Amino acid sequence: METVEKGWDEFWAELFRVKHRSTIPGIQQYDNLVVDFCIETLKLQEGDEILDIACGAGDHSIKFAQKGLQVTGFDISQTLIAVADKKASDAGVEVNLFRGDMREINFVKRFSGAVILSHSFGFFNHEENLRVLEGSFNALIDGGRLLLDLMNPYNLPKFQKTWSKIENGYLLSEPHSLDAPSGVLKGRPALFVDSEKARIILMDQDAMSNNDIRMYTALEIRAMLEDVGFKRIELFGQNKLPKMPYSANCERMVVIAEK
Ligand SMILES: C[S@@+](CC[C@H](N)C(=O)[O-])C[C@H]1O[C@@H](n2cnc3c(N)ncnc32)[C@H](O)[C@@H]1O
Repeated sequence: METVEKGWDEFWAELFRVKHRSTIPGIQQYDNLVVDFCIETLKLQEGDEILDIACGAGDHSIKFAQKGLQVTGFDISQTLIAVADKKASDAGVEVNLFRGDMREINFVKRFSGAVILSHSFGFFNHEENLRVLEGSFNALIDGGRLLLDLMNPYNLPKFQKTWSKIENGYLLSEPHSLDAPSGVLKGRPALFVDSEKARIILMDQDAMSNNDIRMYTALEIRAMLEDVGFKRIELFGQNKLPKMPYSANCERMVVIAEK
């Protein structure tokens, strides 16, 4: 069987975020719960503007728009932005979507709320991660809130090796592994058996290293948020209602910070 390597955008965006995500049982209901939690904890009202940072294929952006919010979403992946655009128009909602880098957020005092969902924070070195928070801070109006939906570093999921059947083939995902000295959750190796074209697709080096995530503790995140000017920082242990206090064995670490 032929073997080909694909870069981050092609491999990860298309296979994981679009094809694999849509096969996860109950994903729509999960997204609804997350969106309701965000609207409640960010104290958003109909007509308010929200920024969906690293919006992926737009699954949450579209639901925010359906709830009457004015939504702007951006992502580094052009593949995902194209999918998000198509989904928004199929759903008949208006979402302002564009390709952008979260290290270069240029909005000034525009949004009542901003979200970084599904642990899309910590992809870079410490200075760049801080820059993401600084850009988010600048993008908010005074009193606006940022929500970070993160894995709980004290209770990481038990990652398993899994085979999933997705469109045109089978996706093998190896477990993530935590590099404890650096606090980095190392990118998850994966391959796709493309049964339609009778070939195996591997991730190239770029695809692998772009998948690393720095795991910050609550204390570290708090210090970073305060550093860029946020105040009234709250922590929750799940990304759905009811609000649950954050503790070591919670599923998630959700951080809300006010400008
Ligand atoms: C775990 S996915 C989450 C996507 C979406 N928020 C969701 O919950 O489904 C992480 C996202 O971060 C995006 N991303 C990675 N680096 C980025 C960057 N520098 N700027 C903006 N988005 C980025 C990826 O393309 C991907 O869509």
